[in-house]
Amino acid sequence: MSRWIDDFFELLRFPSVSTDSRHDADVRACAEWLASRMTSAGLQSAIHDTDGHPVVIGRNAHDSDRPTVLVYGHYDVQPVDPLDLWDSDPFGPEIRDGKIWARGATDNKGQFFAHLCGITETIEECGELPVNLIMLLEGEEEIGSPNLRPFLEEHRSELACDVIVVSDTGMVAPGVPTMGYGLRGITCCEVAVRGPARDLHSGVYGGAVANPATVIGQLVASLHDHDGRVAIEGFYDDVAALEEWEREMWSAVPGMGEEDLLKVTGSPSTYGESGYTSAERLWARPTAEVNGIWGGYQGEGSKTVLPAEAFAKLSFRLVPHQDPVDVMDKVEAHLRKHCPEGVSLELTRGHHGQAYYTDPHSAHGKAAQQALSETFGSDPVLIREGGSIPIIQDFKEVLGVDTLLLGLALPDCQIHSPNENFAVENFEGGIRLNRVLFDKLAAIETES
Ligand code: BES
Ligand code: MN
Repeated sequence: MSRWIDDFFELLRFPSVSTDSRHDADVRACAEWLASRMTSAGLQSAIHDTDGHPVVIGRNAHDSDRPTVLVYGHYDVQPVDPLDLWDSDPFGPEIRDGKIWARGATDNKGQFFAHLCGITETIEECGELPVNLIMLLEGEEEIGSPNLRPFLEEHRSELACDVIVVSDTGMVAPGVPTMGYGLRGITCCEVAVRGPARDLHSGVYGGAVANPATVIGQLVASLHDHDGRVAIEGFYDDVAALEEWEREMWSAVPGMGEEDLLKVTGSPSTYGESGYTSAERLWARPTAEVNGIWGGYQGEGSKTVLPAEAFAKLSFRLVPHQDPVDVMDKVEAHLRKHCPEGVSLELTRGHHGQAYYTDPHSAHGKAAQQALSETFGSDPVLIREGGSIPIIQDFKEVLGVDTLLLGLALPDCQIHSPNENFAVENFEGGIRLNRVLFDKLAAIETES
């Protein structure tokens, strides 16, 4: 068992839910705990206030002979509801079956904390790190990082670095080291459809005025055609065709077969855009998703009512070259065009972020691949990710630097769901990975 478990449990006990203002003080307390943890590791730490939750930065003494590595992570977590589906307290971590169970265990506290533990061990044993370190931990990733890009712009020179390391993505199967070289982007909105001035008797008025719940259903249904393609005009305009080398490489990635997906999702079958494998649908194709839909009576039994309003929350995953604002313009035009008479439609735009794509075979990419293979004892698979970390493309634009995505999240880790967990094996693997990785990254710059 890792010597770091008790420490990790302290971190997991903070209910640092960024979206819920009732937890603002918990988010700050978590930031303060991290800053003091960095200080006790021998780093210089600082808490930077923003218009939202604070950014925590830790650094060692920099030396111009060494490359500078920025390690990014996020200490905020998703809400825990529905609470009754958890087998243990989401903020009372426990170890069962070789896994640590808690909200944030994988996403993202466990993954960045493994790096901090690796860093702490290296400083203890060697007195110093082989690289200049900037560790940047934010508290707003799960709400779209609204204040981090301005922070990067303001602190551009202090954050100058050669490469960024992020462990906040997936590992395709236990023991299979995985390097990501892409992330999908995202753009979100909420749609409100309003009809009569109040809920009406559905017998007295049903048939004579439009039903907003029916309309929201029609609008949602209009987003796709029968082949699972998004039916919004122009949606695929900027989508690059999948390259043959990726299709071939991905066909050999373990953990992505039909059976694997059925097991991990609990779905009766896979489904998606025709002409693509599941890996291709997830990693290289854009999507439209309904994240929530509501309106009308939800209580016990029936209530013959014609609801005054109905709502849907939508999000769209994007691939490289799609512009989130342009896509949302197209979404809005589509919904307005398909909205029938008799209701009003209001669309409120939410957060968005661009997709990311980089060369996995750059000098830094190769060093990371070597570090993964030495740490886990087999060659890494190279994938893109279905999920999004919007700040990664901002790092590229503001700091001009690529990110190594070295994921430790296993398929059954249940991030954003009840019973989130992190395999102890991956926590320990992450600690070892940090130490090997920094050595490899330090070696590149001295050779070149
Ligand atoms: N760590 C995830 C992203 C992720 C998970 C990438 C698994 C690849 C594999 C991150 O915390 C996350 O959940 N991001 C959000 C982005 C958002 C709220 C702007 C997402 O992808 O929904
Ligand atoms: Mn997340």
